[in-house]
Formats: sequence, structure tokens, C-alpha cells
Amino acid sequence: SQKLIIDCDPGQDDAINLFLALAPDAKADYEVLGITAVAGNVGLDKTERNTRLLCELTGRADMPVYAGCDAPLVYPLATAEEVHGREGLEGVDIHEPAMALQSQNAVDFIVETLLEAEEASIRLVVTGPMTNIAAAIQKDVRILPKIQDIVLMGGALREGGNITPSAEFNIYVDPHAAKVVFESGCPLVIFGLDVTHKVLSSATELERMKALNNPVAQAAYNLLTYYGRFDADKYGTDGAPLHDPCTMAYILRPELFSLKSCNIRVETESDLTRGHTAVDFWHGTDLPKNCLWAYDVDCAGFFDLLVEQLSKYK
Ligand code: BDR
Ligand code: CA
Repeated sequence: SQKLIIDCDPGQDDAINLFLALAPDAKADYEVLGITAVAGNVGLDKTERNTRLLCELTGRADMPVYAGCDAPLVYPLATAEEVHGREGLEGVDIHEPAMALQSQNAVDFIVETLLEAEEASIRLVVTGPMTNIAAAIQKDVRILPKIQDIVLMGGALREGGNITPSAEFNIYVDPHAAKVVFESGCPLVIFGLDVTHKVLSSATELERMKALNNPVAQAAYNLLTYYGRFDADKYGTDGAPLHDPCTMAYILRPELFSLKSCNIRVETESDLTRGHTAVDFWHGTDLPKNCLWAYDVDCAGFFDLLVEQLSKYK
């Protein structure tokens, strides 16, 4: 079976991604080895707590949860409370979880787990700034051949940015980490705004979730109702983009997405375009094709998958 490590900064859409990943399924052909939290949408103290809350909510209090980097490699942390709420998880009851945080640092967990693994045997699913992953690579490059691929949410090509005109949030927060990952030589599968902006949690889809009538589906409904309000007010859309859940949807059902092999680079320095992803979609250069770039998605299929996963909770 496939082995995954999920690295995240919950985060409303990170939460939905965890619901996809942790749905009870005797037939699942993957195993989540651990979940690592990073600073991003809110500070690390909140993202690691939220990760544990979500594990408890999904009945996976046994899941090892690790806290990693509390700030990007170079820049000070930028957060997104206006989208995700003050605690980063608006719509879920916030309390100190009973399950403990692992004492090992997330970066050490990633390094140790990969060093012990077979070649190309572990998939990293990354839905926050890539600080933990970059720090792990910088700590010990011998982990690289152990990684099967890095499936990540970040960047934009035709859509432009969502935090500045040039940049998508995850890459903007830690462009230096993105650079380490993009230049690592690992196979990369990247879900940027071009595709995530097509996956909108419309009122119709929310009603399907609510009708499932279990606590996790209800939490998804609550989280997305709050999350959708920001986009409805600001952009007038029916629902908000399910960015991060594209990563697990790809692991579960890759045929939902259209992808193209191309080169991706990132701007780290410019004040104007910090975090911009230069995606060579039309192969205008001879630069190595270092990623699979997602550019289209079967939206109806995506929501059928989400509802199917949510329906597995009791
Ligand atoms: C990304 O930024 C975060 O706010 C979301 O959780 C997602 O990972 C979208 O740009
Ligand atoms: Ca995220």
C-alpha cells in the first residue's frame, strides 16, 4: 500500500483535505504515517492544535501529529485569519484536544521516516507553506530518493495571485522553501489556483454534505459555510475554492485532473512579485520539466468523491 505524510496548516480547506484522507475505509490502498503541522494560515501553536482536533473529530486520535517550523525560512510569517477565522478553523468547536502532540519535531520525523524508507516509497502531501519540507531537505538530502513524489497545493499561472496580484498564499509565505522544493529534483505534482479556483463549494454541494448527517460531514458543512462567506462577499461567487483538497483527491482519484509536464520556478526577492510562480506551460524554454502542473479538473467528479469519503464517517 502507498505511504503518505501529510504536511498542513489547518485552515478550513486543509481540514477538508484531512477529512478526505482519514475517511474510514477497509479497502483504502494507502496509509497515513503521520501528519505534520507548519505555520501558515495561523501560527504553529494553532495549526498543530487544529490538526489534533481534526484527528479526534475523524476518530483518528491514534494518528501521530508533529509540530514543525513556526516561521518561514527567511521572511517573517504572514497569516490569513480573515479567510480562516481567528483560530484558523472557524465552524469547529475549538478546545485543547485530549490527544497529545508528538515530542519529536516534524522536520526530524520527516527526515527519520524517509531515511528508513525504501527508495521512492513515500508520498508527501503538502497543503501549507513548504517550510517543513524544505527544512527536511536542507537537513539531509539523502531523503530525496526516498520520496515517491510531492503532491502540493501552491502557485498560479493564468489566475494571478490571491494574496498579491502575483502570488498565491502558500508560495508567498515561504518562497525560499518553495525554491528548495522546486529545485530538489523530486517528482512534483502541483495544484495551483488555475485548477483550485474551479472547485467551488456551492450551496448545492454543501447541502449534499449536510444531508449525510454525520459529525464529520456536519463539520465540513460548517467550515465551508464560514469559508464561503469570505468569497461570496469579496468576489460574489457561490462558495469558496477547495484548494487543498485537490491534493488528496489526486491521490485517491488521479483521473479527475488534467496535468501537463513543465518547468516551474519561483521569485523569492522582488517586492512586487515575491512568490510568483513562473510556469513554463507552453515550453518556451529548454528548462527541465520539473513538475506536473494541474490545469483542469472534473468538478462534479471531485464533489462525488468528497461526498463519498464524508459518507464513510459514522
Ligand atoms: C492556500 O492558502 C491557504 O490559505 C489555504 O489553506 C490554501 O492552502 C490557498 O492559496
Ligand atoms: Ca493550507
